[in-house]
Amino acid sequence: MPSLSGPKPRLAVLASGRGSNLQALLDAIADGRLEAELVGVFGDRPAAPALDRVAPALRWSREARAYPDRAAFDAELAAAVAAAEPDWVFCAGYMRILGEAFVRRFEGRLLNVHPSLLPLHPGLHPHAQALRAGDAEHGASVHFVVPEVDAGAVVAQVRIPVLAGDTPQTLAARLLPHEHRLVVAAMALAAGGRLAERDGQVRLDGQTLFSPLRLDSSGHLHPAVHG
Ligand code: GAR
Repeated sequence: MPSLSGPKPRLAVLASGRGSNLQALLDAIADGRLEAELVGVFGDRPAAPALDRVAPALRWSREARAYPDRAAFDAELAAAVAAAEPDWVFCAGYMRILGEAFVRRFEGRLLNVHPSLLPLHPGLHPHAQALRAGDAEHGASVHFVVPEVDAGAVVAQVRIPVLAGDTPQTLAARLLPHEHRLVVAAMALAAGGRLAERDGQVRLDGQTLFSPLRLDSSGHLHPAVHG
């Protein structure tokens, strides 16, 4: 269905691996759940299967390890992303730390999904971290990106129970479909012009959000209810 309200928000996606979150975004765009135009997929590993999910004209990738340092790679990545003129940049399984210069350039329109209930378990192996900590619940978070890893303001989360006998693999596999729905729902808020970041806090419809939105089982985001 064509948008009645002018051009669709332009979405750039950064991805390093399998690309199932990218696929969730592509599917949502295709069936009208997400009013956005994908303007490019950008990667640090040319062999990443994620890239094959889009037409060659939409792909940009370079072998990050071939660059002398992070800044050199980030500068080329930033130039490529900026050339696509995105309104939003979404890190969907992008596994390389983004340097401060990149983050500042796209600040306020740069989102990431991380498979933990941030601020719990940032960084690598979050599923194993959750199991080691004995958590009763696990989940995924969509957050604004800041230079510190996985530390930006959290927009929305989805929670699942940790089950007896879970391994990092079973936990990750059970979380993944929920993560996909979270990514689509959060990106729909962004594309709808409802989301912003100010002074390190999330703003939804112009109001400061004091705790992350929660995804319900039908794929809708709601304010968290405490107590
Ligand atoms: C996803 O679970 C994503 O949350 C995670 O990597 C996976 C990528 O899967 N991202 C991070 O851990 C970032 N710190 P995908 O390539 O199939 O979307």
